[in-house]
Amino acid sequence: MKRNIGPVNALYPSLTTIVGAVVDGKENFLAVAHVGIMNHGQPQYLSFGINKAHHTGKGILEHQEFSVCIPGEELVVQTDYVGLVSGRNTDKSQVFELFHGELAFAPLIKACPVCMECRLARVVDFETHDVFIGEIVATHAEESVLRDDGKVDIGRVRPLLFDMSSVKYWSLGAEVAPCWEVGKQMKTTRRGQAVEE
Ligand SMILES: Cc1cc2nc3c(=O)[nH]c(=O)nc-3n(C[C@H](O)[C@H](O)[C@H](O)COP(=O)(O)O)c2cc1C
Repeated sequence: MKRNIGPVNALYPSLTTIVGAVVDGKENFLAVAHVGIMNHGQPQYLSFGINKAHHTGKGILEHQEFSVCIPGEELVVQTDYVGLVSGRNTDKSQVFELFHGELAFAPLIKACPVCMECRLARVVDFETHDVFIGEIVATHAEESVLRDDGKVDIGRVRPLLFDMSSVKYWSLGAEVAPCWEVGKQMKTTRRGQAVEE
C-alpha cells in the first residue's frame, strides 16, 4: 500500500551539472542538479532552476551566455565545493582549468568530459528560482567518452546522480534494456494474446 507523503518532488535522481558564467568580470561556477531537456529537436534547449539569491544568475542575465558541464565521479569534491560556497564571497574562478569554445562568456571546464555552451533563450520567473532556458550552441566531448559512432557513452562519463532524499551523490548502474526496442514485444503478445498491428 502506498502512503501519501505530501507534495514531494520525486523526480530524483537528477543529473549533477556545473553551470558556469562570468559575473562581474570573473568566471563563476555552481553545482546544479535541477536540470531539464526542453526542446529535443532543432534547436536544442536545456533548462535549470537557480535560486535568485545565487551569484551565478547575475552573470547569466548580464551576458546572456553560460556553460553547462557534466562532471564525472572523479570530480565529486570540486563539484560539491562549487555547490557549497558562493561567488559572492569566495573566488571560484581558479577551481578548474578552463577553455573556451564559440562563446566569450561561457567558461568551459577542461576536467569535465562533456561541456555545453549555451545562449540564454528565455527566463521563467518563479517565486524563489529563475528557470534559465538556454539554446545549446556547441557541445564539447572528450574523445575518451565517445563511442565509435561519435555519440557520448554515458558509462564512460560516469556522471554524478543527485538524490534529495538521501542528500547524496549516486553513480550510474548497469544498463537495463534497449530503449524503443524492448517494448516491441508487447505489440505482438499481450498477456499471451496475439495483438493486431
Ligand atoms: C549537488 C548540488 C546540486 C545543486 N543544485 C542546485 C540547483 O539546481 N539550483 C540551485 O539554485 N542551487 C543548487 N545547488 C546549490 C548551489 O550550487 C550553491 O548554493 C552555490 O554555492 C551557489 O553558488 P553561487 O552563489 O556562486 O552562484 C546545488 C548544490 C549541490 C551541492
